[in-house]
Amino acid sequence: MTAATTDPDAIVTAHELPSVNTELPGPKSREWFAKADQHLTGAMADHTIVPFVEASKRGSLIVDVDGNTFADHMSAWGSSPFGPTPARIKRAMEAAWDRHGMQISGWVQSTPVLEFNQALVDVAPGRLNRVEYSVTGTLAVEGAVKLMREATGRPLIITFGGQYHGESTYLASGLSSDLSNVTAGSAQYVAGVVTIPFPNRFRSPFIKGPGPFDDTMVLDYLEDYLLVQQVHPGQVAGVMIEPVLGEGGIHAPSQAFWDRLGAMCKKWGWLLCLDEVQTCMGRCGEMFAFELWDGIDPDLVLMGKAFSGGGQPIAGLLGTDEVMKNTELHLGSTYGFVPAAAAAALEGIRIIQEEGVLENVRELERVFLEEMTPLKERVEQVGDARASGALAALEFVKTKESNAPAPSFQYAVYEAALRRGVLGITQRGKWHYRLQPALTMPPEFFRDSCRRIIEAVDEVAANPPAEGHVLDTVAESVR
Ligand SMILES: Cc1ncc(COP(=O)(O)O)c(C=O)c1O
Repeated sequence: MTAATTDPDAIVTAHELPSVNTELPGPKSREWFAKADQHLTGAMADHTIVPFVEASKRGSLIVDVDGNTFADHMSAWGSSPFGPTPARIKRAMEAAWDRHGMQISGWVQSTPVLEFNQALVDVAPGRLNRVEYSVTGTLAVEGAVKLMREATGRPLIITFGGQYHGESTYLASGLSSDLSNVTAGSAQYVAGVVTIPFPNRFRSPFIKGPGPFDDTMVLDYLEDYLLVQQVHPGQVAGVMIEPVLGEGGIHAPSQAFWDRLGAMCKKWGWLLCLDEVQTCMGRCGEMFAFELWDGIDPDLVLMGKAFSGGGQPIAGLLGTDEVMKNTELHLGSTYGFVPAAAAAALEGIRIIQEEGVLENVRELERVFLEEMTPLKERVEQVGDARASGALAALEFVKTKESNAPAPSFQYAVYEAALRRGVLGITQRGKWHYRLQPALTMPPEFFRDSCRRIIEAVDEVAANPPAEGHVLDTVAESVR
């Protein structure tokens, strides 16, 4: 595949295909790891998932120190939405840095930050017209919980199983229920959080076998059991939900779910907080993922990852007058919305508006579903193929009839795809394999990766690994 354009400013540049020519890790990566392992923490010294050392990035590829190249379907976990070093982002960042250097924006307001705030409320739908500064998604979640409690004077937050909100030792981890080993030792000790199952149309905790299910049944559980037996609705400050479940495997709830949740929020005076850290700024084919449905009217929206435009660390909260206008909370940090980060993030919004990014994202979704949907018929262990814009997942099962999760199969597919030059997203214990490419990845490059993944699925299906209960895999990693 040749370069899509030779324009050095273009968002889409070189897109040669990946190629792995050594064992993994290659000899040079091994040397780097051997030295680094003497000072890395235990978790960081585990190089099995990413068995190479990055030397550079170009186009849609990561180049390792041995010269292997990998198609980058991780895009810095979504925080590099326009490829490695987009020229427009770089220029905007440098111009702001030249003028301001570092500044504490929660104290001294500067022009790039105020311009960015204006652009943000201009693109924000509905009643969202106030901005709070943050640096990471985790901090934005912490801030949102404090705001919800302050605004309502109520203690409890409702959250949904499989969501991920970060790994602080308090609020964010308390709300995270992605895999129990991820927040073991912190989430379980946080009071004031009530978790119900995520609206999942493929897999239900209440009915065996595969869907499609009516995902409003989780609200039946909330309304008919939890609120009746255990949690008084007048004690609930609000609901924290990912509009499209990210780490939990790319699940998009039904319109009926949102209608009913919205009605419950109105009835009981609950605030609706959408964690769009993973889904905002075009990731799902709209500026904000909640724009995929009609009538969702959030009180708070949390942003991170692609929000940065791939420039500097930055995260933020959008909120309504009711929640934010009179708050006495200072939620930012020293590094919240530093001028160069805000300038880059503003340029990111302009790129999305001016360079056909949303159209490209929708095309990536189309390509994924076109390539992957036939696998559901053809391969016993492929339970489902889902995409919401440039968030895509394959879900693996032991057998179609049982619908039981197949984490070993998933991990084997990840490894087989990596050997074919595709860096996707995995975690041990998960039974879905994910792709989160740059929003600007050329669709034909993306299609090539899909085909490599299909080869990987076929390789693993020809000799499937032994599969225990999913809990055994999760429990093993905290022992
Ligand atoms: C939905 C969601 N919320 C919050 C976070 C935490 O963000 P950060 O890693 O920037 O703290 C993440 C990170 O993956 C996320 O996916």
